[in-house]
Amino acid sequence: MPVLPASEEAISQAARALLRGEIVAFPTETVYGLGANARDANAVTKVFAAKDRPRFNPLIVHVPDIAAAETYAAFDETARKLAKAFWPGPLSLVLPKRPASGIADLVTAGLDTIALRVPNHATAQALLKASQLPVAAPSANRSGRISPTTAEHVAAELGDLPAMILDGGPCARGLESTVVRVTGETPVLLRLGAVARHEVEAVLGHPIALADEDAPIASPGQLERHYAPNTPLRLDATEVEPDEALLAFGPSAPQGALTTINLSAAADLAEAATKLFASLRVLDKSGASRIAVMSIPDRGIGEAINDRLRRAAKAR
Ligand code: TXA
Ligand code: MG
Repeated sequence: MPVLPASEEAISQAARALLRGEIVAFPTETVYGLGANARDANAVTKVFAAKDRPRFNPLIVHVPDIAAAETYAAFDETARKLAKAFWPGPLSLVLPKRPASGIADLVTAGLDTIALRVPNHATAQALLKASQLPVAAPSANRSGRISPTTAEHVAAELGDLPAMILDGGPCARGLESTVVRVTGETPVLLRLGAVARHEVEAVLGHPIALADEDAPIASPGQLERHYAPNTPLRLDATEVEPDEALLAFGPSAPQGALTTINLSAAADLAEAATKLFASLRVLDKSGASRIAVMSIPDRGIGEAINDRLRRAAKAR
């Protein structure tokens, strides 16, 4: 499992591995993905096995541009508007799958929809172009755990299961893509993510509702138990116990924790998003009996940060 700096040579090696049916981890602007040729059911099986991911949870297919995306899914006017506004970038669109798309059924968990995304990352783009493949890629972590935002995180999660880990440095956004379903009259927000809800609404020109998680198969991956460190989380902390680690936010953090990481002393939500998962990993290993988390404003990208924190806190 070589971790290789994402040089041109390493990228073409990774493309060849994908073409041979192997799985490869690569950076995107959101989190690291574990990629497989989306047309190759056998390769996609390796992704589910490496992650220990339930088969009912479909994968996002990564493509280089809108034109490629349109070969796999039907875009209506709304979908095209969103794609034009946010691609390349951290938005995934769930759309009606074209019957002759050639995408393995396992990728879409047998649904008649497909999730598509055009990543905004030079390495991801180069890999898609070099392989000429649609690349099915979930986050490169074990199912239920924190998504990786560095190549080292991937190695810690998956060891030598990927044929290769392309190292493109830390991910700029740090939160997974926002997932929007556009299959009927009204678009639905299936997962909060790196594109804030108000940004999607600004393009749509109207509010967008978050899917009810209890609704059947709204977003199969939005399982409650997700993004989970091993250490329990305590949310909305205003003070800390000496045996706690502190995940702080803003200029006035309480003193006295075992270890403290401030997501953003300047109270910048984008900075906090970028640092969230890596910070949880560090605090998880600090030996603290609990991770106290200060409250984070629920506006803009803060809404997605709070979504991930709530899931992490619910895990045990
Ligand atoms: O930022 C990201 O989206 C990263 C990078 C690697 O691109 N990928 C990622 O994939 O987060 P994953 O597998 O961890 O999350 C994909 C989400 C899951 O919640 C899954 O249920 C949902 O997308 N999804 C995929 N296909 C779907 C479909 N056809 N209908 C509804 N939800 C779908
Ligand atoms: Mg994931």
